[in-house]
Amino acid sequence: MANVAVIGAQWGDEGKGKVVDWLASRADVVVRFQGGHNAGHTLVVGNQTYKLSLLPSGLVRGKLCVIGNGVVVDPDALLAEIERVRGQGLSVGPDVLRVAENAVLILPVHPALDKAREEARGDKKIGTTGRGIGPAYEDKVARRAIRVADLAEPETLSAKLDETLLHYNTLLRGLGVAEFGKEELLNKLLALAPKILPYAEPAWERLDELRRGGKRILFEGAQAVMLDVDHGTYPFVTSSNTVAATASAGSGVGPGAVGFVLGIAKAYTTRVGSGPFPTELHDEIGKHLGERGREFGVVTGRPRRCGWFDAALVRQAVKVGGVQGLALTKLDILDGLPELKICTGYRINGKHYKHLPAAPGAQAAAVPEYEVMEGWSGSSHGARSWADLPAQAVKYVRRIEELVEAPVTLLSTSPERDDTIMVRDPFAD
Ligand code: IMP
Repeated sequence: MANVAVIGAQWGDEGKGKVVDWLASRADVVVRFQGGHNAGHTLVVGNQTYKLSLLPSGLVRGKLCVIGNGVVVDPDALLAEIERVRGQGLSVGPDVLRVAENAVLILPVHPALDKAREEARGDKKIGTTGRGIGPAYEDKVARRAIRVADLAEPETLSAKLDETLLHYNTLLRGLGVAEFGKEELLNKLLALAPKILPYAEPAWERLDELRRGGKRILFEGAQAVMLDVDHGTYPFVTSSNTVAATASAGSGVGPGAVGFVLGIAKAYTTRVGSGPFPTELHDEIGKHLGERGREFGVVTGRPRRCGWFDAALVRQAVKVGGVQGLALTKLDILDGLPELKICTGYRINGKHYKHLPAAPGAQAAAVPEYEVMEGWSGSSHGARSWADLPAQAVKYVRRIEELVEAPVTLLSTSPERDDTIMVRDPFAD
């Protein structure tokens, strides 16, 4: 049975929530495999809008959901989000939500250090979400992280907290920020334990069983390839690998289980936070895209920077992310623009580049090379078939396919779930 992994192919906020929700209706289980509550997925279902950060989008469809070991879990954020969606009428309990027992926990020390470091960076800040994602992943590779399973062992917790506090209080002191006391943190974790542990299990084992039972798995990526800690615009990236290969290590299944890789890209480009963005528009068109596309961060509320579609960037994401098909979203936002530009490469210090090089200086200096296309006057909003689209909009999509070297397998033309043109069912074998 085919599985599907969905990943962002730009800098995040490509409209993954809608696509994942749409695919979740065809899946049996939805798995998050990296990131944490820095993600923000908006799902519009009928007259309800769900804003999810940590919970897999499949919950909205009543599907079994798994938070994999590759996710960093803030227990307070998890419980708060569960309460919030319960308030919207969703039923969330251990019967539909499972959390990998080997997932790393985000503790209050993590956002404290995240924010203090950003503050200290001044105008060199990364623009993180301030949610402690980076420090939590640092703890994981430094082998000092407190994980979900540790909540069941008070002695382990106590010993690990000593190491955590030695590390964090030293840094926080140096940055002139309030330190944390052990008693308070330990009591907090002991109080959280009975609320979190009912969700905990060896998620890899459940996924293995489901797989052997022929169930369809949807792996839900967060952030996007250009925010990948290896392949993105480092250091202006998040702290996890966001490429599809992570679906395997981040949930405890072999690479063969990942299946079809669907990359999501907007028909233009946006980015939140700092860092290079060659096709960024500082003019009226950029403003227009931001307003019309309602480009505000779900998590931070920050306005997103907007620009033309960068085919060189998405092509790179297609290659390193293993993308086999593209879901192109928000095409309707381009309706009515007389002229459209697509970036096909860059000029950097007098030289042509087909992709964004790794050096930060070169990335910052990249000047886009554009191909100009005629826009369309008709409406693509709400189209559900190719025949509903203006001819020039179809040309735009076809040109994108050629340039990024991947077929468009899904086209989304409004926030509504059913306003989607499906070229190929990603779950088809
Ligand atoms: P962090 O993940 O909070 O460490 O933030 C690192 C960078 O990733 C910042 O530029 C954030 O704005 C960006 N980022 C993190 N999560 C998302 C997301 O879900 N969408 C878009 N950008 C994100």
